[in-house]
Amino acid sequence: MNDIPLRKIDHVRFFVGNARQSAFFYRNAFGFDVVAYAGLETKVRHEAGYVLKQGDITFVLTSPLSDQHPECYRLIKHGDGVMDIALEVPDVRAAFDEAVRRGAQPVRPPEALEDEYGVYETASILAYGDTTHSFVNRDRYRGVFAPGFKPIDPDRYNPSTARPVGLVAIDHMVANVEEGKMNEWVDWYAKVLGFTQLISFDDKDISTEYSALMSKVMQNGTGRIKFPINEPAKAKRRSQIEEYLTYYGGPGVQHIAMMTGDIIKTVRAMRANDVSFLRVPKTYYEALTDRVGTIQEDIRELAELGILVDRDDEGYMLQIFTKPVSDRPTLFFEIIQRRGSKSFGKGNFKALFEAIEREQALRGTL
Ligand code: FE2
Repeated sequence: MNDIPLRKIDHVRFFVGNARQSAFFYRNAFGFDVVAYAGLETKVRHEAGYVLKQGDITFVLTSPLSDQHPECYRLIKHGDGVMDIALEVPDVRAAFDEAVRRGAQPVRPPEALEDEYGVYETASILAYGDTTHSFVNRDRYRGVFAPGFKPIDPDRYNPSTARPVGLVAIDHMVANVEEGKMNEWVDWYAKVLGFTQLISFDDKDISTEYSALMSKVMQNGTGRIKFPINEPAKAKRRSQIEEYLTYYGGPGVQHIAMMTGDIIKTVRAMRANDVSFLRVPKTYYEALTDRVGTIQEDIRELAELGILVDRDDEGYMLQIFTKPVSDRPTLFFEIIQRRGSKSFGKGNFKALFEAIEREQALRGTL
């Protein structure tokens, strides 16, 4: 299937209960700069929005301002979560028409939003659960984000006081879907967006005594956009994917992996900001050199910070996972540094899943 030309992930929109406080969290814990705001003060009556940036990553945090907001039910159903993954395209109408022709369900038809800074074009289609993909084009837009948004009041968040932790781009974004639905969504990304399958993991790769899952990684033609799709597999006890599906109330975004050029520096800064990460046992580091060979980083430092390493034939990669960022055990983040390897850390799955299961046991959801 031919590609719909996609440039990159333009932004990720979260629908949250209190965007003002979420902005404070992503700024002061994850090091984002708050750059724009929409809300009552900018004549937007139904919702508040904050735009946060770090490197090439843009997050938009949106909260409804009353029970008349058409998306209100999301908060009851999901708690906070990712509502939309927006993809930058050269031609919004062409991308939308082609996606719908190939079977995508339309959510918002193409619109050209205008203000004094130009024209911002957008449209959206439905993906897994109630998660959407917007197509956006800002080639003719020079404003801070999109019409309705104004630069943040520097009295509130001064850019000179932002403390970035070195996150540069989104590496991949992972979907959790129901048991038996992974292949349906793999086919959807192939058919509708022209993605191809990069890797697949089955329950033999990814299982512990209790937890099992299957996963396929889909990517666009340029390889810049990667969406792994997970489904739970049969196991003795409830898997982390089932736990997610229960608490999110259906399929949705499980984690967002963000790339750094220096994971030690990034994780050290985030730990100093009180971000909670998963920990693996000390024995993981005793066996590390045998498993991955020589690496540039100091293993004692990796052990101190809880950073994991995996190697494939092209090189190695370093990664670490946060604990869920809300009370519901749903969305979490991955920090990743690639040194040649394009892998997703298969060699770490067992140690990681055992770490997740220890957390599940504490929650009584294993
Ligand atoms: Fe990941």
